[in-house]
Amino acid sequence: MSDYTVQPASGVRGSISVPGDQSVSHRSIMFGSLARGVTTVRGFLRGEDTMCTLKAFRAMGVDACDDGDVIRIRGVGLHGLKEPTDVLDCGNSGTSMRLLTGMLAGQNFFSVLNGDQYLRNRPMGRVIEPLSEMGATIFGRSGGTRAPLAIQGRPLKGISFTSPVASAQVKSALLLAGLYADGETRVTEPSLSRDHSERMLRYFGADIEPLHNGARIRGGRILEGRDVQVPGDISSAAFFIVAALLVPGSELLITGVGMNPTRTGCIDILLRMGASIEQVNSREVSGEPVADLLVRSSSLKGIEIGGELVPRAIDEFPVLCVAAACAEGKTVLRDARELRVKETDRIAAMASNLSKAGVRVVETEDGMEITGAGRLLGCTADSFGDHRIAMSMLTAGLVAKGETTVTDVGCISTSFPSFLELLEQVCVR
Ligand code: S3P
Repeated sequence: MSDYTVQPASGVRGSISVPGDQSVSHRSIMFGSLARGVTTVRGFLRGEDTMCTLKAFRAMGVDACDDGDVIRIRGVGLHGLKEPTDVLDCGNSGTSMRLLTGMLAGQNFFSVLNGDQYLRNRPMGRVIEPLSEMGATIFGRSGGTRAPLAIQGRPLKGISFTSPVASAQVKSALLLAGLYADGETRVTEPSLSRDHSERMLRYFGADIEPLHNGARIRGGRILEGRDVQVPGDISSAAFFIVAALLVPGSELLITGVGMNPTRTGCIDILLRMGASIEQVNSREVSGEPVADLLVRSSSLKGIEIGGELVPRAIDEFPVLCVAAACAEGKTVLRDARELRVKETDRIAAMASNLSKAGVRVVETEDGMEITGAGRLLGCTADSFGDHRIAMSMLTAGLVAKGETTVTDVGCISTSFPSFLELLEQVCVR
């Protein structure tokens, strides 16, 4: 796999839009396939992860035509999927695997899910246990906690589940199973994770309502095909926001960014650190808030981060660590144990990479302490096969002394295939 070397920038300037939101893209395929009638999806993210979801539904008999602009899905209805003749490959995508597990548990057929070496190592017990309580039959490696997973679909019953972790993948897996279950399925979590499933299921006509830190759904209601416009992914925008904040002399407009409040923790954190981020042209598309963001170079200061902010910024911590490394003073992150079970252990990965860039980082069990280093040092950083670690360290390279090489950057294609091109486009050298 290839390495990539980035040079320091003397400005980050221009106007860009980022690719469609990954979470919304996955769900548009899933709910569009299970609906009656046609669903059109505009702004779909064509990354490796979301393409795994699309391929899985095609393998279950769904006709989804992609003309390069719009994806047109001919929904088969809640009970119209066909038994796949082969293993469904989820690649690197936790969202594909966990959400599909919930949906497949309620089908009248057998299926097998597999993934790459990273996904096979991630915990699946968190969805398998509550799904088993609903009556699901799921087998997996390591005592039923790791993929490959074998699922014998069968009738399910609704349960009331209190999740020990704030996880949209766990919540969504249960809501998808709940579509098929007898009675009501309730999920609550310690604090609210991203609510794209709830919003989109409602938009498609499901019998679903929000609860305090969760949702309830009643099974059996027919979903209707809809037109979906996918907002720009705030998780992808975050790399460019941090780049424009850190590189002096920058001014960057990022248009059409999804601003769902369950996803905007990174903006709140950066504003508290002293960032200049202006929201303009706020609007709503397909039930999701969207805005343009105007970002200018700023001097940041270290802060303390924990509690409900953590699930609202869960995917942005690698690049927020880079912001903290360039801030004045110490940043303390707590309550972020979940980062240890992402595509890689993101606490260990960022601690190791930032140390190579000359930053003082102390790892804790559920977070880290980062002491702002002033100027980072160019180094050779490891992506650990994790797209967000790779993009974060390339962002760091824009403000480092000397050049920064990141190894094995092929993983960036899982969520943001045009990242390197866009980075070069906005950087002034
Ligand atoms: C996602 C939920 C989050 C997030 C992931 C996408 C989703 O995972 O980290 O990138 O689309 O539901 P968890 O549910 O494990 O927190």
